[in-house]
Amino acid sequence: MARLDGKVAIITGAARGQGECEARLFVEEGARVVIGDVLDEEGQAVADELGDAAVYIHMDIRHEQDWQRAVAAAGQLGSLNILVNNAAVTHFASLSDTTLEDYNRVISINQVGTFLGMRSVIEPMKASGGGAIVNVSSIDGLQAKNGLVAYAASKWAIRGMTKVAALELGHFGIRVNSLHPGGVDTPMGNPTNSDIDQFYKDYPIPRCGKPIDIARMALFMASDECSYSTGCEFVADGGWHAGQIIKWLPGGH
Ligand SMILES: NC(=O)c1ccc[n+]([C@@H]2O[C@H](COP(=O)([O-])OP(=O)(O)OC[C@H]3O[C@@H](n4cnc5c(N)ncnc54)[C@H](O)[C@@H]3O)[C@@H](O)[C@H]2O)c1
Repeated sequence: MARLDGKVAIITGAARGQGECEARLFVEEGARVVIGDVLDEEGQAVADELGDAAVYIHMDIRHEQDWQRAVAAAGQLGSLNILVNNAAVTHFASLSDTTLEDYNRVISINQVGTFLGMRSVIEPMKASGGGAIVNVSSIDGLQAKNGLVAYAASKWAIRGMTKVAALELGHFGIRVNSLHPGGVDTPMGNPTNSDIDQFYKDYPIPRCGKPIDIARMALFMASDECSYSTGCEFVADGGWHAGQIIKWLPGGH
């Protein structure tokens, strides 16, 4: 039996990058998947490749009515068990150079989109007898970097609201956890498509993450194998968050 046999999932931002990889892996593991994104051509192409197990819908996660359409599309595939709140944007600028418009844009997609997503699936998941919500935060929801004020704020918020939702929804059989990738080789993590591994050579796992590294973690979190975890942080960052390697201390390299 496959790990997501009979389950129905909504994955946002699944036209490319990690979301696409998750959609492919979830289908491989027996799920039927709603792919939601604003990149219609790419999203439709992924759904076409996956055949009957997937459907693409245009959805902007900032809009409540788009969430209603996503839930309705999931209903056509079966009863909804899984939501991966994956879609997000980033914005690189110093605090001084981040305009209110820039800030609000990132917050409205990453933070408000995740909030709307969680709220939209509560009733359908209750009707299914339970479910799993995977909220994609980031290593920047555990620590921070200069130049990422709006993004880090949104990702810390996701980590916080995950815990609130876990506390409120556990007794309905709905588990809610946050996923914290480190650097991942996608259009977001490697916008110039360069030889990115060199930037990670001094990390404990000396390479950039691949979408499949994160998708496998999302699969575990979404599956019944993760049955006793809720309100937790699942980190897949090659050891970035563990600390800093000091070359001149014993064991340094
Ligand atoms: N790539 C990294 O290094 C990295 C690191 C840590 C966390 N993350 C997180 O992982 C998740 C996936 O990122 P990725 O690396 O695959 O990025 P990506 O840019 O390749 O994919 C993001 C997807 O989200 C979609 N999207 C953006 N705004 C949307 C909106 N308003 N409504 C619907 N869809 C929208 C995009 O069209 C795109 O398909 C994000 O939450 C990101 O913050 C990425």
